[in-house]
Amino acid sequence: MNAPTRINSALDVRSQFPAIVNWHYLDSAATAQKPQAVIDAIAKAYAQDYATVHRGVYQRSSEMTGRYEDARAATSKVIGGKPDELIFTRGATEAINLVARTLPKNGRNRVLLSALEHHSNIVPWQLAGYEVDAVPLTPDGQIDLDAAEDMLTKEHRIVGFAHVSNVLGSILDAQRAAEIAHAKGALLLLDGCQAVPRVSVNIGKIGADFYAFSGHKLYGPTGIGALWGRSELLASMPPWQGGGAMIDSVSFERTTFADPPARFEAGTPHIVGAVGLHAAVDWVEKLSLDAIHEHECALVAEARAALSDMSGVTLYGPEDSAGIVSFNVDGVHAHDTATILDDAGVAVRAGHHCAQPLMRVLGVEATARASFAAHSDSSDIAALVRGIEQVKRIFG
Ligand SMILES: Cc1ncc(COP(=O)(O)O)c(C=O)c1O
Repeated sequence: MNAPTRINSALDVRSQFPAIVNWHYLDSAATAQKPQAVIDAIAKAYAQDYATVHRGVYQRSSEMTGRYEDARAATSKVIGGKPDELIFTRGATEAINLVARTLPKNGRNRVLLSALEHHSNIVPWQLAGYEVDAVPLTPDGQIDLDAAEDMLTKEHRIVGFAHVSNVLGSILDAQRAAEIAHAKGALLLLDGCQAVPRVSVNIGKIGADFYAFSGHKLYGPTGIGALWGRSELLASMPPWQGGGAMIDSVSFERTTFADPPARFEAGTPHIVGAVGLHAAVDWVEKLSLDAIHEHECALVAEARAALSDMSGVTLYGPEDSAGIVSFNVDGVHAHDTATILDDAGVAVRAGHHCAQPLMRVLGVEATARASFAAHSDSSDIAALVRGIEQVKRIFG
């Protein structure tokens, strides 16, 4: 395995990631590695500061409650929202399920999704009894917003799109998507899982109604994520899980509920997860999402140029994708490609990426996917290219 060298990296943060020494980690779209600052914040929260939140009258608990609520403020700010509009969830999956299960349908029983959605933005709507329509893609793998405009009807309650595709890296024109949705009285839910770690997001500017994302893709811990929603919409939604912390008063005859966000956070929350996510948000903001985006765009350009120079490699997605490059070596299953790359010390994801409808559109069973992060550099791309050459040698 080759020791990482920094060739053209504008960001110099690799040494802050203890788990990727001598390893070319190109699977950040699945889950991001953690910088030392996040690991330290989690360790401190358990080793020094730990107590429950929102319940204890003793000082440690009240301080931990402060930290939990500070985390909410920081997490909402990273997408330009207000703290009382941000619900902590287990991740994007739970955030989208929450909306699908609790948003009053107001007589509209359809949702408009796209052909590139992650299963997390398909299955919750089906389980909640919605009829699903799927917008096709443009030839370069963008959601076709002209088609969306034509397909949207007054029966659609939600337009639900990935802000950045987890397979193709395509970046949605989210502002236009909001205008299209609102013109027909529908709401825009953005699946921001892949966007929040790689592009600067301002939900006010976009005009989104709901925004869902996961902490573990934003350099934070697993088990914590967020749903942001416009406050009047959250106020119209009933609770979906009952228990402690989400009530106003309880009797056997009648229970009344707390206002959002507490209404949607039943039970003891992931206290240390929130603290870790706060540290991740601070870490990302210190670097700046614009700088991370620029860095990842440069890496995507370099990777796409290198892979398209190789014969027998098919690339998917647009040239200007955000941090994600999907590819196949002709005649080789993506799993075989990923296995050989693993032997070469390069970790890529292979499979359908929880986007089976998109695989059908691409006409493949699976792709291999290299995804970048703030710590990635040219040495990762060089190792990827060497690994693919080895794949080609082995498969003739
Ligand atoms: C675009 C997109 N949406 C939703 C999800 C689901 O995220 P989680 O499993 O963290 O809830 C993912 C995870 O890969 C994703 O990439």
